Amino acid sequence: MKRLMCSLTLALVAGLAGANDGKAIYDANCAACHQPDGAGALGLAPPLAGTLGKRMAFAEGRKYLPGIVIAGLAGKMESKGVIYEGLMPSWQQLSDGELAAVLNHVLSTFNAPDLPADFQAIAADELAAARAKKPTAKELRAWRAASQ
Ligand code: HEC
Repeated sequence: MKRLMCSLTLALVAGLAGANDGKAIYDANCAACHQPDGAGALGLAPPLAGTLGKRMAFAEGRKYLPGIVIAGLAGKMESKGVIYEGLMPSWQQLSDGELAAVLNHVLSTFNAPDLPADFQAIAADELAAARAKKPTAKELRAWRAASQ
């Protein structure tokens, strides 16, 4: 019995760690459109590499990333001089912890050189706030414009 409890605990811990593994979540849910290296794909999805770090210096940018993964966004978006027009799905089915993990993966892996020196990892609470008061597409676009 003791042994069973022990392996159950181990399985639980492994499950939790797995659930918040930002790279695994990215590869499973985001890479098909944004590409495994975050370079984006013409006509499909904008890059997530080298385009998001500076936004973290702005309060609007900090609201923008949790907001877009919770609410999704469709329409025209200009990135690095290219116009993308596609659908960013909502990822509401993922937990706050999973979404924080995937955003932190995107920021620390693909945007590290541009992060502000005092950058603090995105917290699950910030996802919870976006979920509680889902931003409109208009708000998301305004936050994006204000954080560059
Ligand atoms: C079906 C394709 C698709 C998938 C899958 C997808 N995205 Fe997107 N994403 C887009 C598109 C298209 C846009 C641009 C939306 C627009 O034009 O309004 C976008 C925009 C974004 C942006 C804003 C980029 C910027 O420059 O402002 C972020 C951040 C983002 N996605 C993160 C993610 C994350 C994290 C995941 C996985 C959990 C993900 N996306 C999965 C298509 C996708």
